[in-house]
Amino acid sequence: MEYSELVMEHFMNPRNVGVIEDPDGVGKEGNPVCGDLMEIFIKVEDDRIVDIKFRTFGCGAAIATSSIATEMVKGKTLDEAEELTNRAVAEALGGLPPIKMHCSNLASDAIHAAIADYRRRRNGSKKNESSQKTSEVPKSSEV
Ligand code: FES
Repeated sequence: MEYSELVMEHFMNPRNVGVIEDPDGVGKEGNPVCGDLMEIFIKVEDDRIVDIKFRTFGCGAAIATSSIATEMVKGKTLDEAEELTNRAVAEALGGLPPIKMHCSNLASDAIHAAIADYRRRRNGSKKNESSQKTSEVPKSSEV
């Protein structure tokens, strides 16, 4: 199986490996083809991904695609990051053997899941804030 030099380079020296303590969003995906797993952790400020880490039980191609995918979305807005496709990830690496294309789904799917998780948490906390504000109103009017 032929891998590009860039795939090998990201496999040997993967970027953004690890876990973010206290992340703003977490995405977990399993690969239905091989059963491998991926976790993505993101930190978000002003709707922008300021930090991102991954850990995977996937193969070398999954490690390489996660490495470059995390580099591609770091510093991007959430909307820009959501547009990342597995094809774009594979192309950025100079292509993947067809039999390994499913491995590149893990990174992009888990990034999308982490963004969805962030948005869910934020909407949840907004609801909490607004319900707190509502409950604070009677108190302030009592004063
Ligand atoms: S074989 Fe499972 S992620 Fe590549």
